[in-house]
This record gives sequence, structure tokens and C-alpha cells, in this order.
Amino acid sequence: MENKMEWWKQTSIYQIYPWSFQDSNGDGIGDLPGILTRLDQIRDLGVETIWFSPFYKSPGEDFGYDISDYTSIDPRFGTMDDCDKLIREIHKRKMKVVLDMVMNHTSDKHPWFLESKSSKENPKRDFYIWHKGEKKVPNNWISMVGTSGWNYDETTDESYYSNFLSFQPDLNYRNPKVKKSMFGVLDFWLNKGVDGFRLDIFNSIYKDEGFRDNPSSFRYFPTPDNHDEAFFQKKQYNLNLPESFQFAKEVRKHISKYKQKPFLIGEVSGSDKILKSFLGEKADGLNLVFQFELIHFDYKAQFFKDLLEKNEREFPAPYTPTYVLGNHDQRRFIDRLGGDVRKAKVLSAFQFLARGIPVVYYGDEIGRKEGRIPNFFGKDPIAKMNRFVPLFLCNLLGIYINRDNCRLPMLWDTTEQAGFSKGKPWLPVGQFQTEDTVVYQKTKNDSLWNHYRSLFHLRKTSSVLKEGNIKTKLSHHADVLCFERTLGKIVVIVYLNFGEKEIKETVSKGSKLLYSFGGAEVLGDKLQLTGHSGAVFEIRLKK
Ligand code: NOJ
Repeated sequence: MENKMEWWKQTSIYQIYPWSFQDSNGDGIGDLPGILTRLDQIRDLGVETIWFSPFYKSPGEDFGYDISDYTSIDPRFGTMDDCDKLIREIHKRKMKVVLDMVMNHTSDKHPWFLESKSSKENPKRDFYIWHKGEKKVPNNWISMVGTSGWNYDETTDESYYSNFLSFQPDLNYRNPKVKKSMFGVLDFWLNKGVDGFRLDIFNSIYKDEGFRDNPSSFRYFPTPDNHDEAFFQKKQYNLNLPESFQFAKEVRKHISKYKQKPFLIGEVSGSDKILKSFLGEKADGLNLVFQFELIHFDYKAQFFKDLLEKNEREFPAPYTPTYVLGNHDQRRFIDRLGGDVRKAKVLSAFQFLARGIPVVYYGDEIGRKEGRIPNFFGKDPIAKMNRFVPLFLCNLLGIYINRDNCRLPMLWDTTEQAGFSKGKPWLPVGQFQTEDTVVYQKTKNDSLWNHYRSLFHLRKTSSVLKEGNIKTKLSHHADVLCFERTLGKIVVIVYLNFGEKEIKETVSKGSKLLYSFGGAEVLGDKLQLTGHSGAVFEIRLKK
């Protein structure tokens, strides 16, 4: 059957955090030549699209999310030649490349900002959001990290706005020259052949022109999928503005003329209604948005059933849901599961077999665990701000502060520094066992790495899993989630057991077992699902 669906609706995404993936020159920081040496392994895992966290020139105060030059490579990571080669080699291996694009803000060391802050008359003054009135803090806007978003600058006796950290001044998209410059940046990379962009805090692009005060709210802590009410404020005027929804369409239109058919995946947060506004009423906005429900899952079949049904209700085709289990800002998912690899297999199977795009954070395929670095010793700027908050309190309140802990180096093998570097890693590799490494897990059929490999390949080779519709099915057992994917005359049926107890399900006639894990077995017409196991069947319908 000819496959007509756009490629990005069928892909799987693997996120690489360049700082921590593979160091090639012994300086303890991962780099592009290092990544190049691992490309075959990434391909063998079955990855289709690689998303790179930023490797552009940057002071590195927020580890690359503070860019000082959008069109050059930070020397820590290599050169533009390395980058060109990386793009070429990824394409050679039939994978796609997505770059992280931080459009909302630059570093305060970006030449645009240095010019902008030098004088009120500077032609770049309006590249950023300066408040022109008398007041140093013109309104009550709180940034996404809980501080005032206004930053007083002595040079011109005015304040500039930053929706994240103070060294990340927000660009002013009401200035057409800013838009033009940013579109120029996108063109630069699209002309190099990249296949898409992950758009950092895209919900923050526009701010209210009239600088109106935000209304108050009872809610203090933000969650990964809700920043729009936090720190006792409804972020009505500094997040999710209608102009940002409109801008999503403009960016989509701008990039869609490129022959590689690139796509945009937005980091936006909020209600489904807000996410949909970014995707556009006619699915003409951002191609995809990250959906973070799996960051705070309740490990129960009912939770996943509800999630599937909700996504089909709110984001039916042509919308494509995304399933994100982790990223460089969140506690590692294996730790959220108490280290239980059996559960990690069930969860990742859900992520790969549902209708939508699985987004995998490097190291999750081997169950890479969190570090235990206290905020006090954190390199992460958010940890530095909260230096005196003890880890146990963060855990108690369920808040995640020191992001160093989810950014530890990849565990490749049992040599020194786990094969990550010949030098002293920028973050400690931490304690690990032989079984935690890629090299070991590759040799064990029932390892998490091999499970991920099977899932990546299953999706890759099944048009039903890529394109088919989805329907949840009733199981007689509360712990079992069952759903069907259908395309034409082929049906794929998935059973996942979220419980400890062994459960038997009757298998429909003519079913062919495609994959099973965790000890699930077919005996005659019965599927025996041991605790935390799963199975995938295919049926070819006659008519
Ligand atoms: C979201 C990114 O994921 C995070 O790592 C970064 O610190 C902020 N945006 C600011 O760019």
C-alpha cells in the first residue's frame, strides 16, 4: 500500500543532549565528532529522527539555551565542518535531523543585545522588550522561573523583559526586523538540509503590547504541562498570546517551501485548547507540540486508556499526538518508576504503539538513572538560584530543580567514565553497573535496550503502527490495557499488563504474534500475560 502520510507524522524522535552524549577530545564535554562515532549505533537502535539540544555558539550559562550566535557552532562542540558532516552522515543513514531553535530569547552576550542595551537610540534597541516608562518594574509579570521578568539595566536606566532567566532577554517580535532576522536563521539551517526545528518556549514569543498586569491565581507550582497558572498568577499577558498562535502559522508557512518538507515541534504548555491553538484550527500551525502527560503518569491501565481516548477526542487525525517520557528538564522516567525495568518496558511499549510520535530522551533506552547532585553543587542555573533548597524538600513537594541530574553522561561501556570521555566529564558519570551500559545490554535479549530496539523497528516496519487509527478495547481485567490499530485490512492488537498478577486473555483466531516482552506467552488460543508484560498481534481481515 502506498504510504501518503507526511513523514513527520510517522517518525520517532530521539533527543541528544550534546553536552553528555559522547566526548571525542577529552575535554569532558560531548561534541559533534563524538556523536558522529555513535551514529551507526543510533541507526541500529532504529531511530528515525534525531533532535539535538542546542550546539550553537553560547556562553553556556543555560547550557546552550542562551545563544550568542545562531549560525555558528560553539567551539566546545566542534566546527561548522563537523556540523555539515553530521547532517550529511545522518542523512546517509536514512535518518532526519531536527535542531533546537530558541526564538524567544538570546543570550545577553548576543551582539544584538549588546547593541540594544548600549543606548536608547541604538538601531537594535527595539530588538528586545524595553519598558520605556519611569517605572523600573512596570507590571507584575512573573517569569517562568518564578522571579520578576523585569531586569533593570543601569546603562540606560530602563528594564528589559525576560520570560526565563535574566541573562536570556526576550526578543521583540512586534519589530518586523526581528522576525526577518529569525526567518533568516531558519533559512540558513534549512538550506543546510535540516529537517525541522524544536521550538523552545514558543508559548512565550509574544507579550501584551499594553503591558497589562496579570490576574492573580491560587496556584503556585507550575507543572511540565501547565505554566500558564503559576507563582500565584494567571499568565494571561505574558504567555500563550493569540499573536503567538498566529506566528506559529507564519513560521509553518515560511518553512513549508523547502523541499525536504521540514516540520516544527513546539515546546508549549497549557490546556489542550491552548495546544490546539498552536497547532491551528486547520492543522496549519506548528506541526506537532510536545505533550507532557507521560511526565506525571499514574502507572495504571486506566490512566493510559483515558489518555488515549482523550487524545483521540481532542487531537483526532490529521492532528498527531506526541508521547514524551522524558527530556533534559525532567526527572528520568526510570526513577519515576522506582527503577523498575519491567514497568519501563510497559510504558515505552505504550509510547511506541499508540497513534502518535514517541519522543525518547538519550539514555532512557538503557534505563539511565538520575544523579543525586544537591542544588548547592548544581551547574544548572535553576539549581544555582535555589542553592539552599535541599533535594529531599524538592522530592517531597514533587518539584524538579537541579536539571544536572537528568543530564549525566551516557553509559556506553565499562571503561573509565563509561566510554563517554577520556577526560573528566563536565558532570559526573556517577555509579553504575555493567548491566547499565549499552555494550552489555546489546548482548542481552531481554534488556531494555533490545526492547527499545524492537519497538523502534516494529514501528518502522509497520504502516499500521505508523498510520493506522486507534481504538481502545475493553479487557475484563482492570490492569490490562488493550487497544487496536487498524489500517485497511490489517489490525494490530496490543495488550499491556500494568499489574503484578498473571492474566489470561483470549486471542482472536488468525492472530499472528508480532512481539512480546516481559514473559508474555501464547498457549493455544490464550495469551498468558505475566505481571508487567505485553504482546502485539496482527490480524489480516478477509474482507
Ligand atoms: C526550555 C528548555 O527546555 C530549557 O532547558 C531551557 O532552560 C529553557 N527553555 C530556556 O531556554
